[in-house]
Amino acid sequence: MDKSTFDTAKVIISGPMHSALKHDSAHKHVTGTADYIDDIPEPAGLLHGALGMSERAHAEILSMDLSEVRRHPGVLWVFTGKDVPGVNDVSSNGSHDEPLLAETEVEFHGQPVFAVIAETRDAARKAAQKAKIEYRDLPHWSDIDGALENGSPLVIAPMTLQRGDAKAEMDNAPHRLKGQIRIGGQEHFYLEGHVAMAIPGEDDEVTVWSSTQHPSEIQHIVGHVLNIPSNAVTVNVRRMGGGFGGKETQGNQFAALAAIAAKKLKRAVKFRPDRDEDMSATGKRHDFLVDYELAFDNEGRIHAVDATYAARCGFSSDLSGPVTDRALFHADSSYFYPHVHLTSMPLKTHTPSNTAFRGFGGPQGMLGAERFIEEIAYAIGKDPLEIRKLNFYGQPGSGRTTTPYHQEVEDNIILRIVEELEERANYQARRNAIIGFNRDSRYIRKGIALTPVKFGISFTMTAFNQAGALVHIYQDGSIHLNHGGTEMGQGLYTKVAQVLSESFQVDIDRVKITATTTGKVPNTSATAASSGSDLNGMAAYDAARQIKERLVAFAADKWSIDPAEIVFLPNRVRVGEKEIPFPDFIKQAYFARVQLSAAGFYKTPKIHWDRAAGRGTPFYYFAYGAACSEVSIDTLTGEYLIDRTDILHDVGRSLNPAIDIGQVEGGFVQGMGWLTTEELWWDDKGRLRTHAPSTYKIPLASDRPKIFNVRLAEWSENAEPTIGRSKAVGEPPLMLAISVLEALSMAVASVADYKVCPRLDAPATPERVLMAVERMKRV
Ligand code: MTE
Ligand code: MOS
Repeated sequence: MDKSTFDTAKVIISGPMHSALKHDSAHKHVTGTADYIDDIPEPAGLLHGALGMSERAHAEILSMDLSEVRRHPGVLWVFTGKDVPGVNDVSSNGSHDEPLLAETEVEFHGQPVFAVIAETRDAARKAAQKAKIEYRDLPHWSDIDGALENGSPLVIAPMTLQRGDAKAEMDNAPHRLKGQIRIGGQEHFYLEGHVAMAIPGEDDEVTVWSSTQHPSEIQHIVGHVLNIPSNAVTVNVRRMGGGFGGKETQGNQFAALAAIAAKKLKRAVKFRPDRDEDMSATGKRHDFLVDYELAFDNEGRIHAVDATYAARCGFSSDLSGPVTDRALFHADSSYFYPHVHLTSMPLKTHTPSNTAFRGFGGPQGMLGAERFIEEIAYAIGKDPLEIRKLNFYGQPGSGRTTTPYHQEVEDNIILRIVEELEERANYQARRNAIIGFNRDSRYIRKGIALTPVKFGISFTMTAFNQAGALVHIYQDGSIHLNHGGTEMGQGLYTKVAQVLSESFQVDIDRVKITATTTGKVPNTSATAASSGSDLNGMAAYDAARQIKERLVAFAADKWSIDPAEIVFLPNRVRVGEKEIPFPDFIKQAYFARVQLSAAGFYKTPKIHWDRAAGRGTPFYYFAYGAACSEVSIDTLTGEYLIDRTDILHDVGRSLNPAIDIGQVEGGFVQGMGWLTTEELWWDDKGRLRTHAPSTYKIPLASDRPKIFNVRLAEWSENAEPTIGRSKAVGEPPLMLAISVLEALSMAVASVADYKVCPRLDAPATPERVLMAVERMKRV
């Protein structure tokens, strides 16, 4: 980081909430001592599984000859959907549209049709190649255009958000335009791929280690495929090597297969697909095609928006309902639409079932909105930033605060964030200089853009906004922490430990963070929607509160003192005049038979959502941010560089500035990859051809902005009483990368003297930039 304002020298090793503590596993990540599932010492007799995958995009299975697979040396068991003891289904939403192993029909190239269990992983994989499957091909389509041409069904009912009369306003406003934006998907590319290991227990019991963001769902699915109750299944996960949404539901199949085989063979079984299989068999970010019509006036003020959001959902519904809903919830970005009509179109395609990915549809919705702004700016010849400011939501009382889903924006700080960044990044002067540079430069062109982020925090499914935590204090004063959230690198475990460290005023080292397990905290939600620390932090706080109340009551009684005179100080407790070291204090409480364990619980207040009516308060609050990016493109080749990015991001009162800055940087770079180099490509047979790093390009360290200034809005505090008045940080920063796409767009637009909106689609690969430049030369 050239100029990051976060000073690593300020990282402190111990201390409570709001301080820049290091990630609890940072030293283990970098020294290779952090245990991922494949690092856990293998149980004796461990067997390995491999997938037999469909070689057709859409076909009827006429026959399956697996005899040679069975004969392969080292193979113990080959099984199909018929061998599933319970229900052959791993759908996450109860829709029963996702067989664990396809039986009569395959719906995408790479779909699992059988599984092989062998003594070694190599034997299982080699054996899987020997299947002879006869197919009868059926019509298939891989993308949105194909789905539209073929009248593809929707995987789930669409949603409509509506306010005012957008159609009527189109005729009344001074300007009106129509357009379309294509937005590509994205592979998660977690460094640790999917993996699960199952160990059979006695009777119906089974223990599963799964790389999952959602242990409770794995528990549920394993119960479902084995036809056993949830209390027979324990799911553990210490950490993932990245999830990014790709492990909310997509781990189901691997865990289910491992558990079935473990119970059948009474031996431990591990499934670890290799990268190509992982990429071919599991879902990704949804591509979108947004068709829009805008009405606006001479100043550039939006009067009405009417838009349709078609999405590539893949073969099953999975999370496509909530993902396409969230696209609509973010189709306003930070802008007030007086009249609006938005509809989702979740299309079925013969590709893996698309799923959660950082932002969960929000980035696609927001990218559409930023395109609307660009369209208006180019149409009337103004700086897009000016159009943005003109259209921002207003302050309460302005009459410009209602979202398309009828929630009021009450905590709006977007103008302050944007103006502060504009100043810090010296936007106006640099933009003028860039326009001057472009006038004189023959081949290299530059662009700059400053774009806002406003992201709604909460699961739109109200029931998911709950969490539990389990806290024990042992006799020696050491604290054991467990909660329902999972750690995927985002620092959740550290943040929740900080909450306890703060509550009891003890050093963070006194808090042992333990692996997430369904046996300690039940019925958890996926660690997702950026709500991990909001929910689990509060649940841990609640557990600590209960124990503290008991401790205070005990001390007040024992030393006959007013409870107000009992104060938790760093590593000690003051009881009137006396100061007692924390471990001694706990020991005495133990002897007085004080319960030193508590289960905490939290549910988010205020929120509710009625999908059919398209009305409610789906979000507890909003997280804001803004980014300003400058790029240079080579108009002869389409290659480009990101010269500089400045970010100002709102995390409320940061629980941990070190971790939060990391999330902002990481989110931005991941978003940049999505919008620039990461391109998914299925061939006409429906095969994913970009199934490895050789063909799928995620950002390298050398792709990052040459100057990268990242700041948190230190003055911000959550207006709602969240844990420490912090705000969620996991997903919102991804959308800061929209500034890069729009800066590229400005550089392209310079070729035609900024007279037309380049309509640069995502990902803006060098090829696509070059084609856009060529288009500009012809206008
Ligand atoms: N950061 C890292 N390092 N690895 C991840 O997999 N996932 C992101 C984000 N940041 C992710 C990450 C996603 S998609 C979400 S929803 C949040 O973290 C989840 O964690 P949180 O709710 O604790 O922020
Ligand atoms: Mo994040 S996409 O909500 O796992």
